Amino acid sequence: MGKFGFTVQATDGKARKGVISTPRGEIRTPAFMPVGTAATVKAMMPESVRATGADILLGNTYHLMLRPTAERIDRLGGLHKFMNWDRPILTDSGGFQVMSLTDLRKLTEEGVTFRSHIDGSKHKLTPERSMEIQRLLGSDIVMCFDECPALPADEATLAKSMRLSMRWAQRSRDAFGDRPGHALFGIMQGGDNRALREESATALKDIGFDGYAVGGLAVGEGQEIMFNVLDYAPGFLPEDKPRYLMGVGKPDDIVGAVERGIDMMDCVLPSRSGRTGQAWTRRGQVNIKNARHMDDPRPLDEACTCPACRNYSRAYLHHVMKSQEIICSMLLTWHNLHYFQELMQGLRDAIGAGRLSAFVADFHAQRAMGDI
Ligand code: GUN
Ligand code: ZN
Repeated sequence: MGKFGFTVQATDGKARKGVISTPRGEIRTPAFMPVGTAATVKAMMPESVRATGADILLGNTYHLMLRPTAERIDRLGGLHKFMNWDRPILTDSGGFQVMSLTDLRKLTEEGVTFRSHIDGSKHKLTPERSMEIQRLLGSDIVMCFDECPALPADEATLAKSMRLSMRWAQRSRDAFGDRPGHALFGIMQGGDNRALREESATALKDIGFDGYAVGGLAVGEGQEIMFNVLDYAPGFLPEDKPRYLMGVGKPDDIVGAVERGIDMMDCVLPSRSGRTGQAWTRRGQVNIKNARHMDDPRPLDEACTCPACRNYSRAYLHHVMKSQEIICSMLLTWHNLHYFQELMQGLRDAIGAGRLSAFVADFHAQRAMGDI
């Protein structure tokens, strides 16, 4: 069985192009990971997700532990077989989702107890239980169990939370053990506080991980503060390991994060906004519900090679959105995922050719032109 590894193939400024190798295949970086929360990227067949260019999907400990449960997925042969995706899967560890999706939760040194957002039943997650669930799922890249405070938060709150996450990171590492071919990533916290970010990075490096995430961003702080943190935070992490920015983001967030040395990202945006009629193109955001598309025979983007743009007009997409037809979610999700993956390929090519700043200038120039 192959091992988990990371090779940086080219750099351009702080940006890196590389490849993560896993027994289930290679992940070209910078990588965008579509979100498959409940063992599906909503409205997409797995082979279609692959056709958009995705090398890896993200799954969620929190949702899958509640339904259909990790034990059931294990009995059925693991998450890859269950959802028919044989390439790499990264799973988030659950804490972040407990905090954002449940009420009546209780946080202690041991972990977090909470009530299910589905049926109100009581559950507990600890670093040890999160590692067990992610093992039962068969996740290729396992995330440490952490706590992520919303921003803004005062320094004492950020420090206390970050230090708890670092103790949980050690417990995650101990519980994960030695699993060849599977990776465990640490998660840096510390909010928008530079000293706390550095302290967190040092703690994680001392424990030692296969990759390092920048957590605690895209939690209400806005792009300026996020980029300010990303100006220094990736530099605190080892150069020879992948760096993953969690929960980001919009296309311009992605471009800015890659310029600052981020290798992996995930976000529900392309899939979720597809289902609400939002399309993302080179020229920015398009709301297909808008009446201006009603008689428009042109595709969303004449340069896009996705099925929605090759075979359908804006008028058709507008119609199926207004009629709430299921194909609308399918087509817009496909287009959005295609656009995000094409953006990643453009970034990788530009870094490889040493022309990232020209690529980024063109990216912003096209968006400034606005929709057709
Ligand atoms: N998703 C977005 N941000 C975070 C974070 O800080 N921690 C975890 N576990 N997941 C996230
Ligand atoms: Zn398209």
